[in-house]
Amino acid sequence: MNTTDNSGDVRLSGISKTYGAFTAVHPLDLTVPQGSFFALLGASGCGKTTTLRMIAGLEEPSGGTVFLGDQEVTHLPPYKRPVNTVFQSYALFPHLDIFENVAFGLRRRGIKSVKKQVVDMLDLVQLGEQARKKPHQLSGGQQQRVAVARALINTPKVLLLDEPLGALDLKLRRQMQLELKRIQTEVGITFVHVTHDQEEAMTMADTVAVMNAGRVEQLGSPTDLYENPNTTFVANFLGTSNLIEAEVDTKSGDDIVLKAGGGKLVLPEARCSAPTTTGGKVLVGVRPEKISLTHADDAGEIPEGRNRITGKIADSSFIGVSTQYVIDCPVCPEFEVYAQNIDRDARLVPGAEVVLHWNPAHTFGLDAAQDIDAGVDIEEEAA
Ligand SMILES: Nc1ncnc2c1ncn2[C@@H]1O[C@H](COP(=O)(O)OP(=O)(O)O)[C@@H](O)[C@H]1O
Ligand SMILES: [Mg+2]
Repeated sequence: MNTTDNSGDVRLSGISKTYGAFTAVHPLDLTVPQGSFFALLGASGCGKTTTLRMIAGLEEPSGGTVFLGDQEVTHLPPYKRPVNTVFQSYALFPHLDIFENVAFGLRRRGIKSVKKQVVDMLDLVQLGEQARKKPHQLSGGQQQRVAVARALINTPKVLLLDEPLGALDLKLRRQMQLELKRIQTEVGITFVHVTHDQEEAMTMADTVAVMNAGRVEQLGSPTDLYENPNTTFVANFLGTSNLIEAEVDTKSGDDIVLKAGGGKLVLPEARCSAPTTTGGKVLVGVRPEKISLTHADDAGEIPEGRNRITGKIADSSFIGVSTQYVIDCPVCPEFEVYAQNIDRDARLVPGAEVVLHWNPAHTFGLDAAQDIDAGVDIEEEAA
């Protein structure tokens, strides 16, 4: 790929959309670099589709500009933009076979010899064998691949995908996630993928923008968002976080020492997105898989220097690769701990008194002025 080519960059500058008094998308600045797989992730109604439609030209922005590469396209009609969209409903032509569905864009532009391009495109999506079938003879996943091929044959600079896998069952969706990722790597064009499914966004995208109520809350690589969430919404929406209300006590080198309940917790200052004045409140966060559980009788064996809190096992579910515990802790009523099933301690059953401990480096700190439950239990429904 030519690294100086930026013709597939998507740059949104102050782009917004209001419907009467309601703001669906607040002024938004976003750059999607050429060739990247970018995901817009958020719950139903947060403004993902509206943002995508403004890039496609299907929705007039209330303010701001859209650039594709160096070209401003804000007021261009959709067909003049080097962009194609794939929707959840693939809308294939039922009376045309797969070959002709894929050839459609070329034929419409008056191109006569379409065979090579269509065959290449069907190979790319691994449907070469199905060329003469009708859409209803294919599975949902295959039909969605036809829709992708039909869009890509127009050689767009950017492919927009709006919940394209939403209608597929979980197993097929997982396969298609890998398949779409492979196709994107192979063609090397910019993909902007909209989804409400956090696992899907993390599996596929290089960069994820987490949207909430018409704003991007945080943007980063999947690992970065997961390990260093900056808001309670991101911490809770992307996986599970345990959040503990704490108070800044002192600073010690690069660390902040906090008081929580009767004990102390250590947090690297660089991992805290909240103000850290002494006496101020901070939400201390840690992911469930970062925590070790030790029966209270063995508490003396826990190494020095780990963050620790005490609690009582309220519930445990064995799910094969791990056991998921809910621990009732004075500082956090439903603390979640995921333990890999390696050497199970038979004493770790509901009712047992335990110590939870973890490496302070895995702790993050959030502004306590936020809703501690933002992003928890958002309904998993397609938008
Ligand atoms: N044409 C419209 N008129 C009024 N409100 C709209 C219109 N289109 C979308 N909205 C509202 O804008 C918000 C964002 O919608 P949308 O971008 O479709 O969200 P998402 O794709 O994230 O589920 C929603 O509250 C939706 O009801
Ligand atoms: Mg939508």
